[in-house]
Amino acid sequence: MFPDESSASWALHQRALRTLPGGNSRHTVHVEPYPLYAVRGEGARIIDADGVSRLDCINNYSSLIHGHNHPEIVAAISRQAEQLIAVSMPTEAEVELAEIVCDRLPGVEQIRFANSGTEGVMMAIRAARAYTGRPLIAKIEGSYHGSSETAAVSSTPGAPDWGPDDAPCAVAESGIGPGAAADVLVLHMNDVEGGRRRLRANAGRLAGVIIDPLVKYLRYQAASAEFLEMLREETRAAGALLIFDEVYSLRLGFNGAQGAVGVVPDLTALGKIIGGGLPVGALGGSAEIMTTLFDPRGGPARLAHGGTYNANPLTMAAGAVAMRLFDRAAFDRLSALGDRLRAGLREIVSITGVEAYVRGQASIVGLFQGAETGQTYRDVMRARQANANLAPRVELFFRHMLNHGVLMGAPGFFVLSTALTEADIDFVLDQALAGFRAIRGEAA
Ligand SMILES: Cc1ncc(COP(=O)(O)O)c(C=O)c1O
Repeated sequence: MFPDESSASWALHQRALRTLPGGNSRHTVHVEPYPLYAVRGEGARIIDADGVSRLDCINNYSSLIHGHNHPEIVAAISRQAEQLIAVSMPTEAEVELAEIVCDRLPGVEQIRFANSGTEGVMMAIRAARAYTGRPLIAKIEGSYHGSSETAAVSSTPGAPDWGPDDAPCAVAESGIGPGAAADVLVLHMNDVEGGRRRLRANAGRLAGVIIDPLVKYLRYQAASAEFLEMLREETRAAGALLIFDEVYSLRLGFNGAQGAVGVVPDLTALGKIIGGGLPVGALGGSAEIMTTLFDPRGGPARLAHGGTYNANPLTMAAGAVAMRLFDRAAFDRLSALGDRLRAGLREIVSITGVEAYVRGQASIVGLFQGAETGQTYRDVMRARQANANLAPRVELFFRHMLNHGVLMGAPGFFVLSTALTEADIDFVLDQALAGFRAIRGEAA
């Protein structure tokens, strides 16, 4: 049972604390009082250092679209590793993955690869500035876009720094230089009229607007069709670029989130699933924008883009196989698993009477405790403050799932893989029902 001070994970954590601050290199995987250490993956399952096997329902926060160790992906990586691991020359594997992604995404005619979603977003922002010759990037308050400077402005601002509701401040959070915040315009999620007013007022300085069509830390709040259309109209009118961050939300449609929402962005930042489980990032866009900025033929490109591991052959080979396997039939089957989980969780909420709600689309599922809040970061934070008593319930449910064979994202995230079956989803639902009954028992 977790936590357990006699476990191998606990011992590993004590060892890790000596050389890694807090015990690891990635804050999102930290769990109180210590994280479980992973040893092996087997399809839909992950086995920890104590030999406990659980269904992996978070899939490395989205990147493992086919779960662990898919035999065709493993074979592609092994083949590539025997042939060529890294090289200062382009490879056919890069061309192949580029063709697959460009074929799939309406807004991506050309692409450049990098090593993380953070880099993909960073290059998209630089591309918007280089293309327009303007400094200002608009983003949604509370939206996470990785850890590059501009992208990280106002991603988790504290209430004392918010500024007025109708003129939110751009907050340079810890470690971000004040210059980065000066070139960010903050918008509220799905505030169509407020957003339009602020974009018009700043149109002359506006390089681009970046938006994730499904914002994880706003409890999987989806961007409304009206909001996305407004962003499309106003960026076009201002001569600025619309950037979709699909690092996480590419999963929402066979043709990406942009295919699902029917809005074509000028630039798209990518990562996660396109690397087949290996580190990856990318920036794509129209051939006109991409060529203007990045084509080095006949002189230096307008926007320099290097990177020792960009388009490394291992990632390209794994990504090409993973994306080919994620065909329309696989997408539909995976979305049906998402529907099954969402429907079952809604039923559990209704049967048990525990206050909670279910969100998400396709293979992304959220189960959030408390009443459904408004759509903006401020709505979510105000609700959290007013319901501080919910935190122990969230913790209790997460631990219950962990102790009953299910690994999920602690705040209520489930991100599914094609390795899961309907029976697996039903197992998750059985554990969730027992978890909610435990919560009700605790509360009584
Ligand atoms: C929407 C979004 N953008 C960017 C990133 C950063 O990607 P990476 O962790 O690969 O740097 C993430 C990571 O979770 C993300 O969810």
